[in-house]
Amino acid sequence: MKYKLKVIIGSTRPSRKGPIVADWFLKIVKQHADFEVELLDLKEIDLPLMDEPNHPRLRQYTKEHTRKWSKAIDEADAYVFVTPEYNYGPPATLKNAMDYLFEEWQEKPVGFVSYGGVSGGTRAIQELKLTITTLGMMPLPQAVNIPFFTQFINEDEVFEANEPLEKSAHVMLEKLQSWTKALKRMREDSK
Ligand SMILES: Cc1cc2nc3c(=O)[nH]c(=O)nc-3n(C[C@H](O)[C@H](O)[C@H](O)COP(=O)(O)O)c2cc1C
Repeated sequence: MKYKLKVIIGSTRPSRKGPIVADWFLKIVKQHADFEVELLDLKEIDLPLMDEPNHPRLRQYTKEHTRKWSKAIDEADAYVFVTPEYNYGPPATLKNAMDYLFEEWQEKPVGFVSYGGVSGGTRAIQELKLTITTLGMMPLPQAVNIPFFTQFINEDEVFEANEPLEKSAHVMLEKLQSWTKALKRMREDSK
């Protein structure tokens, strides 16, 4: 059985590097047969700043963009956030996208691919975990953290990882698969 994995690109600014990092990661995911993967690019999804009048817990959505986002997140079994670090935190676009929904995220695992300077985006992940756990998700400690990430981007704008990075991606995906299986069963048992 294949699990539905949604890889979410958190940055949306012009000239962003998020898609370059995500393209590399998607190639690794495709080597893991248990996942059926879909890319969700927040730039294409184009959510405005949270504009729903009701608490997301009620699922009384009034906007088409929210209904579409809700469906995309609801049908997933697991997520990977591809995120930079902006001023020691995650990009506001990612926080905004999370705040739109509530039930859809519950009891699902999240892996991270983070990138940045010396920190490799780790501070953004730490901050994200507050919201992630509040939304009932399980954040994985195994992550892909990419420090000084531009060194891995070649002149054709392709990400060329070294061996430790490749390995960390496989380790994270193996753990993600275990958590995905366990949490899917848990959700089904409590129906
Ligand atoms: C508003 C802003 C804040 C940033 N703050 C950090 C930071 O706190 N830590 C860091 O490692 N890099 C920081 N950077 C540099 C980013 O790592 C780099 O610009 C990266 O390309 C951002 O991801 P993106 O291209 O997908 O938007 C910042 C960049 C921007 C635009």
